[in-house]
Amino acid sequence: MAPLPSFLTLALSLHFLYLLPGITSLPTLGVTYFTPAPIPSKPKPERIATTIPSLGFASVRFLNPDPALTRSFTYTNTTLLLTIPNPLVPPIAANRSNALRWLNLHVVPFYPRARITTISVGNDFLSASTPGFSSSHLLRAIRNVHLALLDLGIRKISVSTSFSFTNAISRPFPPSSALFHEPASDNLIKPFLQFLRDTNSSFLINIYPYNVYRSNADIPIAFALFQELPFNFRDDLTTGVRYRNLFEMMVDAVNSAIAVMGYENIPLIVSETGWPSSGDASEVDANTAYAEMYLKGLVAHLKSGLGTPLRKEGVAEAYIFELFDKEVRPGVSQPERQWGILYPNMTQKYKIDFSGSDRIGGSWLFAGNMIWLTLMLLPLIICFLGDLQMTVL
Ligand SMILES: *[C@@H]1O[C@H](CO)[C@@H](O)[C@H](O)[C@H]1NC(C)=O
Ligand SMILES: *[C@@H]1O[C@H](CO)[C@@H](O)[C@H](O)[C@H]1NC(C)=O
Ligand SMILES: *[C@@H]1O[C@H](CO)[C@@H](O)[C@H](O)[C@H]1NC(C)=O
Ligand SMILES: *[C@@H]1O[C@H](CO)[C@@H](O)[C@H](O)[C@H]1NC(C)=O
Repeated sequence: MAPLPSFLTLALSLHFLYLLPGITSLPTLGVTYFTPAPIPSKPKPERIATTIPSLGFASVRFLNPDPALTRSFTYTNTTLLLTIPNPLVPPIAANRSNALRWLNLHVVPFYPRARITTISVGNDFLSASTPGFSSSHLLRAIRNVHLALLDLGIRKISVSTSFSFTNAISRPFPPSSALFHEPASDNLIKPFLQFLRDTNSSFLINIYPYNVYRSNADIPIAFALFQELPFNFRDDLTTGVRYRNLFEMMVDAVNSAIAVMGYENIPLIVSETGWPSSGDASEVDANTAYAEMYLKGLVAHLKSGLGTPLRKEGVAEAYIFELFDKEVRPGVSQPERQWGILYPNMTQKYKIDFSGSDRIGGSWLFAGNMIWLTLMLLPLIICFLGDLQMTVL
């Protein structure tokens, strides 16, 4: 019987090793917010600042920062990602004093009491902007914001820009074949990745499995919605890894495309992701049930600490698009897709704790652990039963 206790120790320590990912830092989960034009029901900044942490979010990304709103987050623990709107990118590229002006309005009065961590210069700028503005404008604007921050003596806010998955990545599946689209790949992405490495900043990407699912008839809905079903996986034969959901497959396509450029280990931030709860008549998969499955699956996936097959630390942060549904006003045509996790009257659309602390999906992990532990201990149990038998005999 002597070797048995050491076997037990081994089984238990292996079991705790398996649990270790939970100890390393988990991705920060945030939500995006777009300040609506002044409408009677526009929520007060103070209300936004209390609502976001109450939903379990540690972070917020402003798509069009508003100084009053940023002020309301001073002395809170919510971290802020500010986006410089696309139309401001060309003037900021043209003259660093325009970058300084923007920072003097949106950052200097509040920082560091408001925990601004990142500034995204534009959002999906190349595909959204007017022709004539090229990647060199974007790079120059990014550098000007970075230099203006240094002028102000601020070193801890990182500067980046966000890309859209579909506009940035070509041949995404299998992930090992993913590349950045030409010509941005050489003109923009390479020097941009070098900038991120030099300044210790993150790569920002908007990831919508919904759009990829809609344009690929061979992707099953369960794969897009994080449903754990038998045979619900995709193998990447080149790397030999198995994907259990579309989100992690898209994340690894980005990891792979970055690695091919020679820049591994640049942190990844999912600057937008979500699932619409309504759409036009053709969008049968845009419904509240699916949106809730997607968001619950996303939170469980991020908080599992398992990362992705190609990157065990996974993404650094992820932002759910978006806090509110667009308001439907009389006389204005109804927006086709609604992405909000709150209705315009601020009530919750889903029962989800975005801090992940109610262990959504945790029961699955727990069950997995229990099965694993039982299997590890099985020889011990059999031995013990054998022993009993011998005693009886
Ligand atoms: C911020 O976090 C600290 C440390 O966890 C905590 O003591 C403090 O109460 C938090 N502040 C707010 C406003 O939640
Ligand atoms: C940048 O803007 C500042 C202030 O508006 C102005 O004095 C300066 O001449 C501009 N520089 C260039 C290169 O346009
Ligand atoms: C780079 O970022 C990491 C993680 O945020 C931080 O721990 C480290 O101190 C940073 N290094 C520099 C040179 O800023
Ligand atoms: C808020 O709006 C939603 C959707 O329009 C509605 O179902 C819900 O009853 C409203 N809640 C309150 C408290 O008004």
